[in-house]
Amino acid sequence: MTSAYETLQQELPLTPRTWLVTGVAGFIGSNLLETLLKLNQRVVGLDNFSTGFQHNLDEVKALVTPEQWANFRFVEGDIRKLDDCRAAMHHEALGSNIVEYVLHQAALGSVPRSIEDPITTNQNNIDGFLNMLVAARDARVKRFVYAASSSTYGDHPGLPKVEDRIGKPLSPYAVTKFVNELYADVFARTYGLQTIGLRYFNIFGRRQNPDGAYAAVIPKWIAAAIKGEQIYINGDGETSRDFCYVDNAVQANLLAACTLQDEAANQVYNVAVGDRTTLKELYQFLRDNLSATFPHLRDAQPIFREFRAGDVRHSLADIGKGRRLLGYEPSHRIGRGLKESMNWYVQQLRNQSVENR
Ligand SMILES: NC(=O)c1ccc[n+]([C@@H]2O[C@H](COP(=O)([O-])OP(=O)(O)OC[C@H]3O[C@@H](n4cnc5c(N)ncnc54)[C@H](O)[C@@H]3O)[C@@H](O)[C@H]2O)c1
Repeated sequence: MTSAYETLQQELPLTPRTWLVTGVAGFIGSNLLETLLKLNQRVVGLDNFSTGFQHNLDEVKALVTPEQWANFRFVEGDIRKLDDCRAAMHHEALGSNIVEYVLHQAALGSVPRSIEDPITTNQNNIDGFLNMLVAARDARVKRFVYAASSSTYGDHPGLPKVEDRIGKPLSPYAVTKFVNELYADVFARTYGLQTIGLRYFNIFGRRQNPDGAYAAVIPKWIAAAIKGEQIYINGDGETSRDFCYVDNAVQANLLAACTLQDEAANQVYNVAVGDRTTLKELYQFLRDNLSATFPHLRDAQPIFREFRAGDVRHSLADIGKGRRLLGYEPSHRIGRGLKESMNWYVQQLRNQSVENR
């Protein structure tokens, strides 16, 4: 049987639409851009390069045809400025002009970053979010889909996580993502703006930044393993996550934007796979798979250290709501996603060493 996503992928090229992707130079944003351009859509991208990179946009350019790339307009701007948000909604250079769908990804990620600097996180993730809602409302977009977060489950002990059962936030970052949901809900009720929040659970894949203090565990470990650097596990290694490959997140965004089911709008959805993997299992999988190419990993061992503040112990999603209302069906479970990611990082490393010769 054809899935809802396969049907959508067949329909979209026949009826090109105009999309705004914020955070387009980042990890998830650049993956959304790649998929949309490959489906012959018109895309406006907004980014201020705070944690995103020009090289992510360059990579997408190399992966699409020149005709598809011509359907992309980039606006360098900051969601903390309402005028920048408005400018991105009305990009005169794109034939059919006004943005129909917003995929709002721009935010400052990372729980530890928000603990160190809650004010900057708040400005980007709450003030910026509100600006985007106002600009989207005034531009009368068809739907505003935004990156919510599994951190909203906070201290709720229930597993698997079901959308309507949340606890108290455990970090400033989690507060900002919960406030996003509250604002989106109020904009739907008050102004009739259609919104859908996607609670991402540890998304990983190509173009996720492996560097810096706030890097996510999968790219950080893959990069460290390849370079022969020591890998550290925060806590006892039994902490678990529902790791979700980026193609699943892209699917969820496109389905959420385009669903014609009225009851699907103005809701939040878990975006995950529904599988639980401990950090120890993750380490093992990466070492076993990378050691064929990198023999120095065969005897490598992780070092266990303190638990990290603000981290939830276990995270596992119930994805039934997305399945039911959006037709969401993850294409990649963790193993396949990790293999594709490892290939990408290894290739990156090879390209870098060729460039450095
Ligand atoms: N990656 C995950 O596992 C995960 C999990 C839960 C939620 N999220 C959310 O998904 C979204 C995308 O995350 P990502 O992993 O791709 O991170 P990322 O850091 O790679 O991408 C974020 C992008 O937003 C841009 N940005 C940040 N502040 C901005 C501003 N003020 N104005 C304009 N652009 C700005 C950055 O430059 C960057 O390109 C974020 O909202 C994040 O909170 C991600």
